[in-house]
Amino acid sequence: MKAVSSLLIILSCLFHISERESVILVNKSNPIPESYEQELSSELHDLAYSRQDGRETQKMVKNAAKACNDMLAAAKAAGYILTVSSGYRSFEYQQIIYNLRYSDYISRGLSEEEAKKETEKYIAPPGFSEHHTGLCADIHSLPYADISFSRTDEYKWLIENCAKYGFILRYPLGKEEITGYCFEPWHFRYVGKCAEKIMSEGITLEEYIISKKN
Ligand code: DAL
Ligand code: ZN
Repeated sequence: MKAVSSLLIILSCLFHISERESVILVNKSNPIPESYEQELSSELHDLAYSRQDGRETQKMVKNAAKACNDMLAAAKAAGYILTVSSGYRSFEYQQIIYNLRYSDYISRGLSEEEAKKETEKYIAPPGFSEHHTGLCADIHSLPYADISFSRTDEYKWLIENCAKYGFILRYPLGKEEITGYCFEPWHFRYVGKCAEKIMSEGITLEEYIISKKN
């Protein structure tokens, strides 16, 4: 497992240098390099189909923002209203989200260890969230991101069409051991061209990166 993790770090660094906008890997074993996150602020673009969450508008890096705008315009034209409830997140913003969920578990009587474990099923600790890359977005049609989104026609449309725009479902059902997170039907990640392969084969970004090595 340690060897696999080291391999992924090396591969993600290589991809990072050569193709910044697509396949950088950020997960529980691969934090985002702090320099990468700091460089992003000048590259962030407003999203057209965006919700407010204390922040005025959701943002992503240029290519991903354009692809997301195009995808959600196509969804709208097909009769499906989908919006982004969370795009890029700073470390500070991730910390706020993390603390809110953690405190809620503590107030419900969980021990600190249990609260951490439950929180990290869905929320990455600051520094380890893919949202720091500006390459992913929480997209759905419900008041809040919820598992029930996976039973909507809007979700079905996204799954059938996201790869055309360079997006993948990042945390699929049944892949929790690989991604480190529970099924999140709302979390879509921009990876560019390799999205078609990842979605058609039903694999994760981690599996794709390993397959490229072999
Ligand atoms: N919900 C994803 C795992 C995050 O917090 O980055
Ligand atoms: Zn997300």
